[in-house]
Amino acid sequence: MTADVELEAVTVRFGTFTAVENASLKIEGGEFFSFLGPSGCGKTTILRTISGFIEPSSGQVRIGGRDMRGIGANKRPTALIFQSLALFPMMTVAENVAYGLRVRGASKSARMKKAEELLNLVALGDQGGKKVDELSGGQRQRVAIARALAVEPQVLLLDEPLSALDLKLRQHMRNELRAIQRRVGITFIYITHDQGEALTMSDRIAVMNAGRIEQIGDGRSVYTAPRTAFVAGFVGENNAMRGKVASVGEGFAVVETPLGAFRGTNPLGLTAGAPAVLFVRPEALHIGSTENACTAATTEVAYEGNLTHVGLRADDGSHLLVLLGGGETRSAPPIGARVGLGFDAADAIVLPPG
Ligand SMILES: Nc1ncnc2c1ncn2[C@@H]1O[C@H](COP(=O)(O)OP(=O)(O)O)[C@@H](O)[C@H]1O
Ligand SMILES: [Mg+2]
Repeated sequence: MTADVELEAVTVRFGTFTAVENASLKIEGGEFFSFLGPSGCGKTTILRTISGFIEPSSGQVRIGGRDMRGIGANKRPTALIFQSLALFPMMTVAENVAYGLRVRGASKSARMKKAEELLNLVALGDQGGKKVDELSGGQRQRVAIARALAVEPQVLLLDEPLSALDLKLRQHMRNELRAIQRRVGITFIYITHDQGEALTMSDRIAVMNAGRIEQIGDGRSVYTAPRTAFVAGFVGENNAMRGKVASVGEGFAVVETPLGAFRGTNPLGLTAGAPAVLFVRPEALHIGSTENACTAATTEVAYEGNLTHVGLRADDGSHLLVLLGGGETRSAPPIGARVGLGFDAADAIVLPPG
């Protein structure tokens, strides 16, 4: 069984400080939904509000269509996994998984059957008799998931569960988590400050900044069509050129910047005279292109095999980043070279400053 989760104008205040402001969204049943944003932006507060550890100062949380006001955390159809996992080191893996069922008074045979089923689900079928500290970090992570699933939540809430793992394992666990979610079919609400995690795992992402949800969409749309300067700068690398709109027409705007006048798409319909930032991705900024051209000096070339990052200093002192891929990596300029750069207007986005 799975459930949808709705927030309607949810605000959470701690004293005079507003941690979450006017959050409204609907997460579908069975969806893998992420909240993405920097540390302190209110992600954990939203998760604790959904799980019932915090009551919103105003607004409503609904799970499966039911208003959750006054329903305590242990009565909600949710389970929560933290970064610290909080497994019991003295118990076996199977006993850890069965713990929630023991608290609820299930018989030993029912508990062990459920533990076995869940350990198979997370690919730990042969590890049930081990102690938790005999397992690797990634295996412990899967035990924590199996334990949370034992009480059959309709919604699983995950608060940065991979952040304590090393990079390789973290990347592997992304695929594991996504595969487990597909197998169990319940709603996963995942919190992370790591845009790579959010982009690779999620059906949809809510990008948060300072207590507010700035944009909701699938990974492709938040990456290719950011609608605020914060989202453009936070999700992926971006070159930002600040200035003022000089003229507009046919969905495009020309921005006057210290590096020259550049043309880009104008999704929000900014008008002439408005302060603006033009964003162009490193993979869309090309050496030698003559459209929207400027000049810069190469300061850094980092060869990564399939990719090369080229750092440059533009004539106004600002830093630019060019990403070369595939066969282009052979044509990286040497450090100190002055190069012409440019981009296609369709690849640039003009947005109001944050
Ligand atoms: N119980 C609390 N009392 C006061 N301030 C809090 C409390 N919990 C969180 N905050 C503040 O709310 C803001 C958001 O915190 P949090 O939701 O934990 O952010 P995130 O999970 O995105 O890092 C932070 O500034 C934090 O200091
Ligand atoms: Mg947090």
